[in-house]
Amino acid sequence: MTAGSTVTTVERLGEHVGQTVTLRGWIYNRTSKGKLHFVRLRDGTGIAQCVVFKGGVSEELFEAVGAAGQESSLVLTGEVKADARAPGGFELGVSDGRVLQAVQDYPITPKEHGTDFLLSRRHLWLRSKRQWAILRIRDAIITAIRGFFDERGFVCIDSPIFTPAACEGTSTLFEVDYFGDTAFLTQSGQLYAEASAMAFGKVYTFGPTFRAEKSKTRRHLTEFWMIEPEMAFADLADVMDLAEDMICHIVQQVLERRKPELEVLERDSSKLECIQKPFPRMTYAAAGEILAAHPDSKFVAGEDFGAPDETILSELHDRPVMITNYPAEVKSFYMKRSEDGATALCVDMIAPEGVGEIIGGSQREDDYETLLARIEAQDLPREHFEWYLDLRRYGSVPHAGYGLGLERTVGWICGVEHVRETSPFPRMMTRIEP
Ligand code: 4AD
Ligand code: MG
Repeated sequence: MTAGSTVTTVERLGEHVGQTVTLRGWIYNRTSKGKLHFVRLRDGTGIAQCVVFKGGVSEELFEAVGAAGQESSLVLTGEVKADARAPGGFELGVSDGRVLQAVQDYPITPKEHGTDFLLSRRHLWLRSKRQWAILRIRDAIITAIRGFFDERGFVCIDSPIFTPAACEGTSTLFEVDYFGDTAFLTQSGQLYAEASAMAFGKVYTFGPTFRAEKSKTRRHLTEFWMIEPEMAFADLADVMDLAEDMICHIVQQVLERRKPELEVLERDSSKLECIQKPFPRMTYAAAGEILAAHPDSKFVAGEDFGAPDETILSELHDRPVMITNYPAEVKSFYMKRSEDGATALCVDMIAPEGVGEIIGGSQREDDYETLLARIEAQDLPREHFEWYLDLRRYGSVPHAGYGLGLERTVGWICGVEHVRETSPFPRMMTRIEP
């Protein structure tokens, strides 16, 4: 490293045109032609071309760079030049530097690798351009979500990971030994968000949730992150309005802050630009009619939509569609029902482009007797729900909320087919490493 030169990052190179700066990073790739090495240096913020000319650096450095393969770590100092042909628009004319570690046999090369091979090397795969872009968009989505709720006066209240009982059905529970007792990894923070809403008015939880999904689909992980707002004195319509505003805000923020990343992914941003209010809304009954008339659907009236049905519904519109009032029997015990008792006051938001459900939400049952009867009818362990029933004993009010699945949202916005690429270290039925 040249003494005295400013250390900067690839994303800030444009602020230093004409100056001598130092970049620290890894070789994304290198091509060498006679007296020139073209190093594409990756530093986490971006990739910049660095030109090492034999006459411009010490012989030792020229040799060292020439012997350094993909992912060798190095520090390069040189003058920043604006060059429209260089990726990113700037390049470094190297005058000094050092190879920290020369690597010859990096396992992930520019050639095609199978997904299983890459997933087994996820700790290295994260360095690839596409994964870098996806996870930076994920980061922007998280920031957008937190900002959205913060600006609207929601308080972030974290829900516990160890729980004594199920929230979303007993078939997907992960069991853990809790000092001789049985505990479960949380499937949803909702029940705790409800308690918190009675204490703080408007809250959201944002944390990892776990489901022992035995299905190997492109939409399911066993560990995923969920954002769950919950509001006191709110109903289903409030939930739909909030969800719609939140999605518009997220997409807007990604378009503003992550343009280069969307370009890396070759994401058609016109598909994101049209994500504007209002989103189409329809009932389960209306959606059922569409499916019944569709040749590819195996939809059975009264049952929940299958993944292919969601795909069909999701391709109908250029923006997310909100489907309400599912038959009460296919939905969770805590959902309030319509006046005739037949449907749940619930909403699923189905993202476009075949993505499927990204949000599930509802108005909650706020009547003590009704909720208790539901818990008993479903054979849920009442002793573990006494605290939850307390919320209906002491100052019960209409309230409602929803859960947004982070990974599916990232997948949709990035235009990535499978959720496994949207989590830094995805957990699936057949994978827990690395
Ligand atoms: O529809 P779900 O099951 O709703 C709940 O858990 C409610 N308790 C939320 C609430 O009202 N507070 O899950 C919500 C969302 C889904 O729409 C989906 O985006 C995501 O969580 N999700 C998954 N994402 C990845 N892998 C899985 N196995 C998922 N299961 C649900
Ligand atoms: Mg759901």
